Amino acid sequence: MEKELNDENLCFEQTGLKQFMSPAISALHEHNSITITDDEDLILSEEARSALLCHLNEACRIPSGDAFVEEDWGLSQFWYDNETSEILAKSALECAGEKGRIACVSSPSVYNQLQKISDSKENYLFEFDKRFQQKFPGQAIFYDYKSPLDLDPKFQMYFDVVVADPPFLSQECLEKFAQTIHFLTDKKIILCTGAVMEEDAKILMNVTPCNFTPQHEKKLGNEFKCYTNFYFDEIIYHNKS
Ligand SMILES: C[S@@+](CC[C@H](N)C(=O)[O-])C[C@H]1O[C@@H](n2cnc3c(N)ncnc32)[C@H](O)[C@@H]1O
Repeated sequence: MEKELNDENLCFEQTGLKQFMSPAISALHEHNSITITDDEDLILSEEARSALLCHLNEACRIPSGDAFVEEDWGLSQFWYDNETSEILAKSALECAGEKGRIACVSSPSVYNQLQKISDSKENYLFEFDKRFQQKFPGQAIFYDYKSPLDLDPKFQMYFDVVVADPPFLSQECLEKFAQTIHFLTDKKIILCTGAVMEEDAKILMNVTPCNFTPQHEKKLGNEFKCYTNFYFDEIIYHNKS
């Protein structure tokens, strides 16, 4: 993905869309509706992208590995595979310590694993998709990164560990996530996002890439990394089954 495209709040899969689109593109070529060479990236407007993602979401109906909630690609939902969400949850728990508190920001599959291995009511999911408020009553807090500090004051510096995975690869989105994360903690940050965000992540949150690479149920078109502000790889290593 070209860095300059990020300012338009691109979904992770925008450049990966071409692989899903191949049959449709061939059909359109046959009807002379569009002209795209094989070497060009298909660039869609935000509206066209949302409509297409919704359509593909409906049309494909591929169950996610965890099958805990169907992915909504219009919300840029791409779940980790089971191994990744489990490792991240176990490792976050180890980092937080026995009485520690963990916030999962826009990372519901990590929270899903966390609540399986910890009874703590001090771990929360901050998430835009309201389906999770039904799934995790009392523990899922509505969160829209566009209002990054619209949060209950009780959560200010409340958490020992924050795990976050923003929906878009854009500086604007990461800046807002950084405001939220700095509000929630002054301790450990585990940020999972695209490799193209490395420089911004370092500037905004002083996080650097780990060796551990999160994996998704469905292959992403973008290189993906896990960034932390502490040494995380050894903890990840303990928690690999
Ligand atoms: C790339 S996915 C990260 C999910 C993570 N890989 C997982 O498996 O848990 C982005 C997440 O951002 C959420 N999201 C979408 N729009 C949002 C918004 N306006 N504010 C905050 N989160 C949003 C999505 O619902 C989704 O959970």
